Amino acid sequence: MYDEFAMIYDRFMSDIPYEEWASYIDEVVRANVVASEDKLKLLELGCGSGNLTSYLAKTYDVTGIDISKKMLEMAKGKCIDAKLYEMDMRDMKLDERFDVIVSFCDCMNYMPDKKGLFDTFAESYRLLEDGGVFVFDMKTECYFRYDLDNSTIVEDEDDVYLVWQNCYDSKKKENQYMIDFFVKDGEKYERYREVQSQYAYTIAEVKELLVKAGFEAEVVAEDGQSDGSEDEVRNFFVCRKKR
Ligand SMILES: C[S@@+](CC[C@H](N)C(=O)[O-])C[C@H]1O[C@@H](n2cnc3c(N)ncnc32)[C@H](O)[C@@H]1O
Repeated sequence: MYDEFAMIYDRFMSDIPYEEWASYIDEVVRANVVASEDKLKLLELGCGSGNLTSYLAKTYDVTGIDISKKMLEMAKGKCIDAKLYEMDMRDMKLDERFDVIVSFCDCMNYMPDKKGLFDTFAESYRLLEDGGVFVFDMKTECYFRYDLDNSTIVEDEDDVYLVWQNCYDSKKKENQYMIDFFVKDGEKYERYREVQSQYAYTIAEVKELLVKAGFEAEVVAEDGQSDGSEDEVRNFFVCRKKR
């Protein structure tokens, strides 16, 4: 996962509101975390190619982790002022603590089971300072079932041609993405295929696991103003570790 696809990932993320997400994170931090003279320490889970990381690094002392070596290579190529490590968020080999932990752009939907989600939440709780905040987003089942299932997306650019097919299995709550892409290499096109799965969880399931891990959690809709619901495309979870 996120192997060769890493080299073209950024090309297809131009509609993702990274700057708005960074502002939203700032708002949540201002409302929840006691300011300090030094930069607050922020850990980003699934930092990928560093798109959000580059905004966060302007304000925070950032550490980013990702399971994909290739995505981290893309992030490192951007010379972001952040420490970047190859790591699984379910088992983070870190022993320092952070004021803020974030994870954006569906990373939690890659967890194939509740155990993976719980382990990530428990690890985040362990690594968060008392009074710290953990913010992440998740796509909903509604999005997988009604927007993505059976859809095919085609992107045609001068040097890359991409076909992305989706199939949602409502029993397994699994959306399979089959991404075929062709990258121009001189006069020829090299073909690549990447198959990924994302999984849907209800708000109630996620909240139960967050509470079990020790957090106080609230769920907010993508507009950042209203409460989250199962009808949204994406919800944000704002999780506090008590002082
Ligand atoms: C859709 S990308 C999002 C990347 C980045 N957050 C962004 O906003 O562009 C999902 C990322 O999650 C990473 N990921 C998936 N499962 C992971 C895990 N168990 N531990 C760490 N990273 C993981 C993938 O390698 C990928 O870089």
